[in-house]
Amino acid sequence: MTVASGLLHTARKLTEDATRVVVLSGAGMSAESGVPTFRDAQTGLWERYSPEQLATEEAFRAEPDLVWSWYLWRARMVRACEPNAGHRALGVAQHRCAERGGSLQVVTQNVDDLHERGGAEVLAHLHGSLFEYRCADCDAPAEFDPGTAEAGHMGTEEDLEKMLRTPPPICSQCAHGTLRPGIVWFGEMLPMDAFSSAQTAVEQCDLALVVGTSGLVQPAASLPYRALGSGAAVVEINPEATPLSDDATVTLRGTAAELLPELLLDSSGALS
Ligand code: OAD
Repeated sequence: MTVASGLLHTARKLTEDATRVVVLSGAGMSAESGVPTFRDAQTGLWERYSPEQLATEEAFRAEPDLVWSWYLWRARMVRACEPNAGHRALGVAQHRCAERGGSLQVVTQNVDDLHERGGAEVLAHLHGSLFEYRCADCDAPAEFDPGTAEAGHMGTEEDLEKMLRTPPPICSQCAHGTLRPGIVWFGEMLPMDAFSSAQTAVEQCDLALVVGTSGLVQPAASLPYRALGSGAAVVEINPEATPLSDDATVTLRGTAAELLPELLLDSSGALS
């Protein structure tokens, strides 16, 4: 896909002129690393379930083995994936911005760790993390290693069926509750400190780059509008139209791995 060069030029100018940049990322950011987005069809055994059915506390209480297994599967899948050129461009750009006395802050809805592995520090994981666990009853934080899938191989249907019979571990603190993933499920509150740092960041930025989110889940979807309301420019990167597209200052139709390096780095890989 080619992006109209005039739009790319305008977006590059906005990026060059900005001192404080905030990146608001969603599942599309990691799609080219091999992590399916939420609104993509699910694969294999998981075709039978919608993420909305699995990502609730009620589902976990009703079928803990099923929900635990889904998150175990996702954690192993993410471990087998690598950051893409978009994640790496943000890592480089964040360091270069800091060297120039500016800032590039990352606020993500993603529960993977690909921004961090791509070299960028994350200000806020709005929806939690696949690699943090706590007791579903007493709330005590817990250590748990989900393991790793072989690169490019997420297991056979038989492996997944076996995984489905894995109950969540018992909490070592209270000895009766079970562990749950540190994800913000539908119906749960976002971590207040994460959301308030994200709000402050967008209110103070000159430019918000909104990458790979459908903009359908609140309150994360309100952040680009808060940036616009505070006078910042908003550049959207997404191969598809979203509810934000018409309101954004510039919309670039393309992918994160393709466009973020073009927008943020020059041909030698330095910040443009
Ligand atoms: P979605 O799956 O809703 O949307 C992914 C977006 O990424 C879509 O707009 C795609 O067009 C776009 N996209 C796909 N491939 C892309 C690429 N290579 N580069 C850039 N964009 C691409 O994901 P989110 O908006 O992140 O919540 O979903 C928000 C929340 O809904 C998730 O955090 C999750 C989910 O339920 C929780 O788990 C609590």
